[in-house]
Amino acid sequence: MDRFKGKAVLITGAAGGIGGALVQRLRAEGAKIAVADRRLQDIDADVLLEGDLRDPAYADGLPKAALLALGGLDVVINNAGVITRGPVTETSDADWSLSIGVNVEAPFRICRAAIPLMAERGGGAIVNVSSSWGVNPGPNHALYCMTKAAVASLTQCMGMDHAKQQIRINAVCPGEVNTPMLRTGFVKRGFDPDTAVSELGKTVPLGRIAEPEDIADVILFLASDAARYMCGALVDVTGGKPVA
Ligand SMILES: NC(=O)c1ccc[n+]([C@@H]2O[C@H](COP(=O)([O-])OP(=O)(O)OC[C@H]3O[C@@H](n4cnc5c(N)ncnc54)[C@H](O)[C@@H]3O)[C@@H](O)[C@H]2O)c1
Repeated sequence: MDRFKGKAVLITGAAGGIGGALVQRLRAEGAKIAVADRRLQDIDADVLLEGDLRDPAYADGLPKAALLALGGLDVVINNAGVITRGPVTETSDADWSLSIGVNVEAPFRICRAAIPLMAERGGGAIVNVSSSWGVNPGPNHALYCMTKAAVASLTQCMGMDHAKQQIRINAVCPGEVNTPMLRTGFVKRGFDPDTAVSELGKTVPLGRIAEPEDIADVILFLASDAARYMCGALVDVTGGKPVA
């Protein structure tokens, strides 16, 4: 398929699990890609925009930087994210600013900067990465769930507000995905990640947790013309697993 031939795409969190699958798949479909992350090495992209999304000037400037470097801005994928564990009583001020900064403030800043640029060029698509825990509460991750709920709500509101500018804004809400985010969490808790991933897979009706490509393919659908009438949608990608 070449759904993205010549399209200019900005992806945050491109050095991570889902980000890597997005880069690979968009490349294969002919996109011009600008990638953003804290450290960018060996990534097959046209432009590397390295930086910390907690830096407001960096986040504000990403859409313009991508547009200038790629000669356009058709798609923005707000994929970067961090997870902190625990109930609010075990949540530090540092956890709070990190989670709000990366999961909520950065997508807000990037959308706010991207929308007028896309509108001037006749439209575009933005896909935000929320979580199934952003739509339904999950246990022991209060702050993470709240930030993903914030992004889900922002997506629904922006999807309504900017459809008239031909900008479609949607979100994916994945269940557990086999990426460094999940695997490092297992390691921190003293579990072997391969065993833990395989055990977790038994709790999913489809029989396995998601691979990054399972999520990337839905993001590409939402960014593509096949989703041309979708605005403000939150798309569950959970293998049939309800939030416990
Ligand atoms: N893995 C899962 O089980 C799962 C489930 C639901 C939703 N998600 C969401 O999917 C998205 C991608 O996560 P992933 O699983 O690929 O995780 P990942 O940890 O592999 O990738 C996240 C990327 O975001 C980048 N990032 C984090 N903080 C940053 C900062 N301050 N500045 C710049 N870049 C920063 C990281 O460097 C990393 O490359 C996240 O938004 C995550 O919340 C993941």
